[in-house]
Amino acid sequence: MALQLGDIAPDFSAETTQGPVRFHDWIGGGWAILFSHPKDFTPVCTTELGYMASLKGEFEKRNCKIIGLSVDPLDSHREWSKDIAETQGHAPNYPLIADSDRKIANEYGMIHPNANDTMTVRSVFVIGPDKKIKLMITYPASTGRNFDEILRVLDSLQLTARHQVATPVNWKHGEDVIIVPSVSDEEAKQKFPSGWKALKPYLRIVPQPRAH
Ligand code: BEZ
Repeated sequence: MALQLGDIAPDFSAETTQGPVRFHDWIGGGWAILFSHPKDFTPVCTTELGYMASLKGEFEKRNCKIIGLSVDPLDSHREWSKDIAETQGHAPNYPLIADSDRKIANEYGMIHPNANDTMTVRSVFVIGPDKKIKLMITYPASTGRNFDEILRVLDSLQLTARHQVATPVNWKHGEDVIIVPSVSDEEAKQKFPSGWKALKPYLRIVPQPRAH
């Protein structure tokens, strides 16, 4: 059955450009992002992997590790990394999984045979410290992802986990947030002693608590 939000992210062992990884152990007690790219030595992937390297510090601030995957072998990942450094100014500074037998890609539903039966699509999984899947997105091979959006979602997920607040439409870091419906007004008084603005009993707005 296809993976869904709230499922435990399947554990696996893999060869990566930074050595062997046992996925759940590698995640440790923090957050993780697993993302697939269709193929090494392709233009859109080259820009994506370089940009992810430039964002690594932002993910680290959020206690989040990043790891890429494609079905290409390790020596290809290593050779291509030089091109990424040359053209994007950043070599991948995170592990890239070589999933040559497509075991992980199949388990995570990263191969969509009616789109392409050999390459992985552009999947992103955000995984929480409890190893559960918090977010999944799937983009076609021809569209590069917006990794700033993944950072934004990570901020939202971490605010929900720490402070029981949700984030409204088009929310950006620093803007007001919403007290989740499962928190009663009595509980909210404890959590948000400065109060909130209730536009409706179910729509309670508070300033954003510290995110990270
Ligand atoms: C790319 O990364 O540029 C790409 C990969 C597969 C199909 C189309 C584009």
